[in-house]
Amino acid sequence: MAVHYDETRKIFSLQTKNSTYQMQIDRFGVLLHLYYGSRTESPMDYLLTYADRGFSGNPYDAGTDRTYSLDVLPQEYPCHGTGDFRSVCLVMENPDGTLSCDLRYKAHRIDDGKYGIPGMPAVYGGSEDSQTVEIWLEDEASGLEVELLYGVIPDRDVITRSARLINKGKDSLIIQKASTACLDFLWGDYDLLRFYGRHAMERNLERTPISHGVTSIGSKRGASSHQYNPFLIVAERGANEEKGRCYGMSFVYSGNFKGQAERDQYDQTRVILGLQDELFSYRLAPGEELWAPEVILSYSGEGLARLSQSFHKIIRHNLCRGRFKNSYRPVLVNNWEATYMDFDGEKICEIARQAADLGIEMLVLDDGWFGKRNSDTCSLGDWWVNEEKLGGTLAELVNRINGMGLKFGLWVEPEMISEDSELYRQHPDWAFVIPGRKPVRSRGQLALDFSRQEAADYVFDSLCRVLDSANVEYLKWDMNRSIIDVYSALEDSKSQGRVLYQYILGLYRFLDRLGRRYPHILIEGCCGGGGRFDAGMLYYAPQIWCSDNTDAVDRIRIQYGTSFGYPVSAVGAHVSTVPNHQTGRSVSFKTRGVVAMAGTFGYELDLGKLLPEEKEEVKEQVRAYKKYWRLIQDGDYYRLSDPFLPDGLGAWEFAAEDGSEALLNVVTLNTHGNPLTAYVRLRGLLPEEWYRAEETGQVYQGRALMEAGIPVPHMPDEYQAWQLHLTLCPRDNSMDA
Ligand code: GLA
Repeated sequence: MAVHYDETRKIFSLQTKNSTYQMQIDRFGVLLHLYYGSRTESPMDYLLTYADRGFSGNPYDAGTDRTYSLDVLPQEYPCHGTGDFRSVCLVMENPDGTLSCDLRYKAHRIDDGKYGIPGMPAVYGGSEDSQTVEIWLEDEASGLEVELLYGVIPDRDVITRSARLINKGKDSLIIQKASTACLDFLWGDYDLLRFYGRHAMERNLERTPISHGVTSIGSKRGASSHQYNPFLIVAERGANEEKGRCYGMSFVYSGNFKGQAERDQYDQTRVILGLQDELFSYRLAPGEELWAPEVILSYSGEGLARLSQSFHKIIRHNLCRGRFKNSYRPVLVNNWEATYMDFDGEKICEIARQAADLGIEMLVLDDGWFGKRNSDTCSLGDWWVNEEKLGGTLAELVNRINGMGLKFGLWVEPEMISEDSELYRQHPDWAFVIPGRKPVRSRGQLALDFSRQEAADYVFDSLCRVLDSANVEYLKWDMNRSIIDVYSALEDSKSQGRVLYQYILGLYRFLDRLGRRYPHILIEGCCGGGGRFDAGMLYYAPQIWCSDNTDAVDRIRIQYGTSFGYPVSAVGAHVSTVPNHQTGRSVSFKTRGVVAMAGTFGYELDLGKLLPEEKEEVKEQVRAYKKYWRLIQDGDYYRLSDPFLPDGLGAWEFAAEDGSEALLNVVTLNTHGNPLTAYVRLRGLLPEEWYRAEETGQVYQGRALMEAGIPVPHMPDEYQAWQLHLTLCPRDNSMDA
């Protein structure tokens, strides 16, 4: 049993293989957080201390007891109005305009299986391998009921949280803030690891102490954003890849979010993750409910590598869906960096012909195939094929490409609308524009109000006409601007503050419908590269274009940051041309291949322009990817170096879960006169077993590689790649005599 409720102490214990999460209903009915960390069977309420804390208030029902204050006690769902002055999960405006809420325990239920969330992405689990605890809290004065949901997936060391807010009162309530998860730590020094960035440079790691005051990250852009990823790590000071206590929190949501970390007056730490409260105000009419999207929590007592691996596994096996989640993803060539919008059917077929010769398995036709789209100033919304440009119907083009033995994929950007489009001319009010104001353009385009069913239905029907007309087996779902002028004609003036939330629900509805209608289509998410790289999107699309930056050296850093919270199977990565279009840097073909293989592999260049020896390299890379894809997707992923260090290396490893083989990848990031030798320590091998390196024939003991490391061969230039494939072999007896 993963969940245990101790009736006498009123303690809930959520047990996973290696962790315990505990909470307690206290004498006033407040749900306190007791503990999250390494597994224990002990009740943990002994950790709580009570003292008279000056200027920290006491609830009325505590009477004259001044030692009880919610300003200092660890809580599961702190709200504003109880005397807790730290960051809270819930801020509510009552019908009389006051801001207050006081949640007390009402009931609970424990069930087998993992709860789901209607219309939203969530981790799933079976009744044999997961459990759910629901705890109902209520604010008597307003009638607000909050149902806290906890999912426990013991084998994956994962606990999920979500909250459902239901207005059981007689008047409307306004939810001003509804976060999902709060983690309170009674003592200790913690760091916050967050993944910040910008377009074409996403998910850089920044680690800083959680100190007094509030550190806040998030997005107000309508999408989870390039600027901050909705995934964060709280690590005990000194915790590293191999050791130490650390906690991950991943928001299963693709819109505005907020993460806050704070050290309070008593040196306690609080971390909160959930919906963004700025630009948010959700009016809840009587009987209505609001779901706070899910947060996935995991704890590792053995450092960051283990923590990441838990996230990789839960996302791969319990969040991604559909027939592609564990299966082979075809090696593709995308025409974007080869042609941009300047192509015709012949050009696309030419790339396909080259691709077929080289063993590539799918051609993806990117932006520019619809309406009259030859530049980014028009046609978004007009999802019909530009037959003049393609030189025939889409079916004719796809048939030719299929005839060469290649699958066919297509780019779309359904959430957007160009002012120069038939759609805008017919339905200008479907675009996000505030009446009486001029909208802010971005990439020359506007966003469609996806909260509006008729707008989404129109786009759905147009896309279906295209998808039904030809054998399309892959879709790249793009989204190329942030949302600014939020106004929905369907909502009244008091409800505009919930439109962006409804927008994301509209997006999820659309994706769900699409996935059901076309289960054979592999969907790859995209948002100017990695601007919506989150667990929410991975529920609908098992892979996401990781960044518009295809430079192999920058990609090492982007993919390094991404790997903390997301599996390699989710990371779209392509070999592109040099000098690289984003950075101007030139890196060897081999290095570009090695870096792109740490993802769902493909190409994004004009294959016709390759030199004969480069074409041979493509063939070799495709062979290598086919050989290693299982190990790459299913293996345990290890970061072996920090590529952000000034003298850093790019070094990462895929190790089979059973330790039977490993693929080591190293890229040098510097070159110096009279250089030092760099070493890397492997991980995830069987210490007593022996391994042969396929490339050199040399034999090593697993323990030696993991303890003493291995020297990286000196390479004549910077940005060179080295790969070593290790497989189990008989023991080396030469030392026995
Ligand atoms: C975005 C994507 C690119 C490409 C272009 C097309 O920027 O991230 O990969 O598809 O749009 O306009």
